[in-house]
Amino acid sequence: MNKITVVGAGHVGATTAQRLAEKELAREVVLIDVIEGIPQGKALDQWESAPIEGFDTRVIGANDYGPAAGSDLFIVTAGIARKPGMTRDDLLRTNADIMKAVGREIKECSPDAIVIVVSNPLDVMAWVAKEVTDFPRERVIGMAGVLDTARYRSFLAEALDVSVEDIQAMVLGGHGDTMVPLVSYTTVSGIPITQLIDRNTLDKIVERTRKGGAEIVGYLKTGSAYYAPSAAAVQMAEAIVKNKRRILPCAAWLEGEFGLEGLYVGVPCKLGAGGLQQIIEVELSSKEQIALNKSAEHVRETMSAVSL
Ligand code: 2OP
Repeated sequence: MNKITVVGAGHVGATTAQRLAEKELAREVVLIDVIEGIPQGKALDQWESAPIEGFDTRVIGANDYGPAAGSDLFIVTAGIARKPGMTRDDLLRTNADIMKAVGREIKECSPDAIVIVVSNPLDVMAWVAKEVTDFPRERVIGMAGVLDTARYRSFLAEALDVSVEDIQAMVLGGHGDTMVPLVSYTTVSGIPITQLIDRNTLDKIVERTRKGGAEIVGYLKTGSAYYAPSAAAVQMAEAIVKNKRRILPCAAWLEGEFGLEGLYVGVPCKLGAGGLQQIIEVELSSKEQIALNKSAEHVRETMSAVSL
């Protein structure tokens, strides 16, 4: 890939740029932010690490979209982050306005780009990005499920004292307290999780996963998580850049899948060249479907508070 642009040079955006460069996922990574000096300084600092880390991806910082022109992929992290006690929805109006401005710039400077949305509240921001750019759903995808699933997998690996690599799982639904960890599809190297862990411990892990973002905010106090969120966004980017056709839980625009339509919500997606290649409609238990519907309802309520 030629050029990937990361919008927002805060903790999530800057760490994303660094991970993209260290993996050499593009020839050039552009880091954009409205604050003067921050993207330039962070980008230069990262580029100066290239001889040590051994990557040739050029990292460039900018305050405008000139250097981003012709990007193949955007990762949008711009927006204000949560403070303790705030829900993701509290961020709604400010971040919707930011997303509208960013979406217009993307459409203008890179009309063929794929967009991965990271800003919160995630499912609603992905919708704003899709509406403003008018890109097809294949090219506007939201990052949340990979992060939520990573949290779930890390907690399970710790509880079972096994490698994180051997935990396969999916967390669906909106990125919020209504997310839906799919216990029935959680396995350890193919062994159903319910054979390895008692129900009570599993329930606690599911609950901790739902509140995983808030747990980090509670510690950091002045911001929210960024190591795992950036790793998740970059895993999606890698699947697209390398046309890996990975099945990852991502926020996708639904057109009837899972009985839902006209909103973004986390579902199993196949990511590869071109972006979203397929939504995989797995069977859900009636309890999981009810939980997914409830999560979707919450996303819809939040959408109705935004005027485009
Ligand atoms: C998280 O879950 C901030 O939504 C982000 O950490």
